[in-house]
This record gives sequence, C-alpha cells and structure tokens, in this order.
Amino acid sequence: MRILGTGGALPSNEVGNGAFSALADTSDEWIVSRTGIRSRRISSGDTALSLARSASERAIASAGIRREDISLVVCASVTGETLTPSLACLLQRDLGLREDNILAFDINAACTGFIYALGLAREFLRPGGYALLVGSEVLSRVTDFTDRSTCVLFGDGAGAVAAEASDGEFHFVSGARGDGESLVIGSIPPAPNPFSAARASPPPPLIRMNGQEVFRFAVESMTKSILCVTERAGLAPGDIHHFVCHQANRRIIESAARRLGAPPERFFMNIERRGNTSAASVPLALDELNASGRLLRGERVVLSGFGGGLTYGAVYMIW
Ligand code: COA
Repeated sequence: MRILGTGGALPSNEVGNGAFSALADTSDEWIVSRTGIRSRRISSGDTALSLARSASERAIASAGIRREDISLVVCASVTGETLTPSLACLLQRDLGLREDNILAFDINAACTGFIYALGLAREFLRPGGYALLVGSEVLSRVTDFTDRSTCVLFGDGAGAVAAEASDGEFHFVSGARGDGESLVIGSIPPAPNPFSAARASPPPPLIRMNGQEVFRFAVESMTKSILCVTERAGLAPGDIHHFVCHQANRRIIESAARRLGAPPERFFMNIERRGNTSAASVPLALDELNASGRLLRGERVVLSGFGGGLTYGAVYMIW
C-alpha cells in the first residue's frame, strides 16, 4: 500500500497552558516540563465529522484521485457523536462517495486507531482501488476539565490519508492487552430497561487514566513495535528516515528514541502545539511533516501508535 496524499484539520480555537491554571491546580511550567505541550486546539463547535470531512477533502485533493474511485473508508475515532451511523458512513454521504462496492466502517482502537486502519486497509485494498483512512477526535467532549492529571494533555483535530494498493514494501505489527483500568473513557448511559434489575448510574463518559502505567506501556510497546517492523524490513532503526509516532508526551518519544538508538531529530513532533489528539495524532503529524516538504518520495518511514485498550501498532512503508 502507498500513501498518495495527506490532509489535516484543526479547530480554530487555540488554548494555551495558561488557561488551565484557572480551571485546575496546574501551571505552564509543570505542563511543559512533564509533557512538552504548550497549546492545543479545542473545538468550539467542530465535530469529529466536520473535522474528518475537511481533512479528507484535503487528502483527496493532495492525492489527486477521483472521489468515485474510493472503495474503502475507515475512520478511527472514540468521539463520534453517534454509535451508528458510523463516521465513515457519514463521510461517504458528505463527500459524495459511491454507494456500491464500498466498505465504510469505524474502528475503535483509541490512539492506535489510525495504525490499525492502515493494517486493515492493506488487507482490503485491491489493485486499482483507493482508500480513505481518517483519524478524527473531539476529545474535549470527554475531557474532565477539573482533573489536572488528564485535562492538560488532550486536543481536538483530524488527519486523513488517501492510499492505493501497491506492491511496495509494507510491514505492519499490532497488539492488544485488554485493560479496563489504565485508560478508560466511561460508558454510554443505558436507556431505562424494564427487564433488567436496577443498576447504579454509570459514571459519566470522561477520560480516566493512570498516567504512570500508560507511560510505561507506551515506551515499551512503541520500542517493541518499531523494532519489529524495521527488522521485518531487514533494517535497523538508524536506517529509517522519519518516525511519525503518536504524540502523547515528548518524554515518551524521547525515551523510545534513546532505547532504539535512533537520532532523535528523525522523530517528528508537533505535540507542543497539538497535544494528544488520540486517533488523529499520527495522520495529523504525518500531514504536517508532508506539508513541510521534508518527506521525500522513496524515503523509509515508520508510523507508530499506542493507546487505550490497551493497544499498540506500527507500520513500515516507503514514502
Ligand atoms: N499540574 C500540576 N501537577 C500535576 C498535574 C498537573 N497538570 N498532573 C499531575 N500532577 C501532579 C500529581 O498529582 C503528582 O502530585 P503528587 O506527587 O503530589 O501526588 C505529581 O504531579 C506527579 O504525578 P505523576 O503522575 O507522577 O506525573 P508524571 O511525571 O508521571 O506525569 C503524565 C504525568 C500524565 C504527564 C505522564 O504520566 C504521562 O504522560 N503518561 C502517559 C499518558 C498518556 O500518554 N496518555 C495517553 C495515551 S494514548
């Protein structure tokens, strides 16, 4: 599989760290030193669908493909507004994609969602077919703005790629470690059910996280999965031109880079201005790297993600 074009979309509302000192007991100094984040975009009306639509339009235009040739739409998100229809189906409608011979579905693998989508697309795409793969999140829908240990971390946004089947080298590795404690976005409140015993009201659907547990998992799984895909390509981390990793914490990326023995400057970072945008993080970072002109055709690229589930994955591809 080969990525032909990328696109990104962000809410216009940029919120600096200072704004969080008024909401929770925190400071710019703490946030920058522990995470690398200085600001993030927060929706003031944008939805996961509206951001996904804008990012997709840009990815399709940058790929130079016809909308009617798209046969696969996969959206990775945990913050769509409806369980069904899926974001992918709503995108099919909004973008005017074809109705027959198309697969359109969402996947929930939290921050690893876009990496899982790439792996799935490789299985489903047939020669001559094109895929639209999107990560889109409005995490401000599920952020507890009174919890200083999580509210400062997240941002909203979307990233998308248009890809085609190709027999170029592509390696994919994925993993899951079911864990209902370390990183949870709460349940959807059930409708009253006359056939079920009364239950306590579920907690509101807000992010709850054990930061230190997730930090350890992140460094370990990122290092392991990046090593795995580079070895499958017969290479060492030092042979990779660009690493585009999930942007959750600057220290996580720096730790993984050290363990891998790869030059830190090859790890693209936009966390300073984006925060953690979950499933949007990797495609948004990829789009920003692509737009910078530093990503050249023929270069070796590794994408890597980890997140709720817990899940992780990595992809090696030639750009
Ligand atoms: N401002 C000020 N103090 C804060 C704070 C904030 N925003 N958030 C937490 N603290 C405090 C804690 O209450 C704790 O205080 P205490 O020592 O008095 O108990 C102290 O800072 C240290 O907390 P700790 O959790 O050990 O900090 P940390 O260095 O592990 O950093 C994270 C916290 C969340 C930034 C870090 O653990 C992390 O990034 N984890 C991974 C999260 C992640 O990637 N999640 C998404 C996965 S997709």
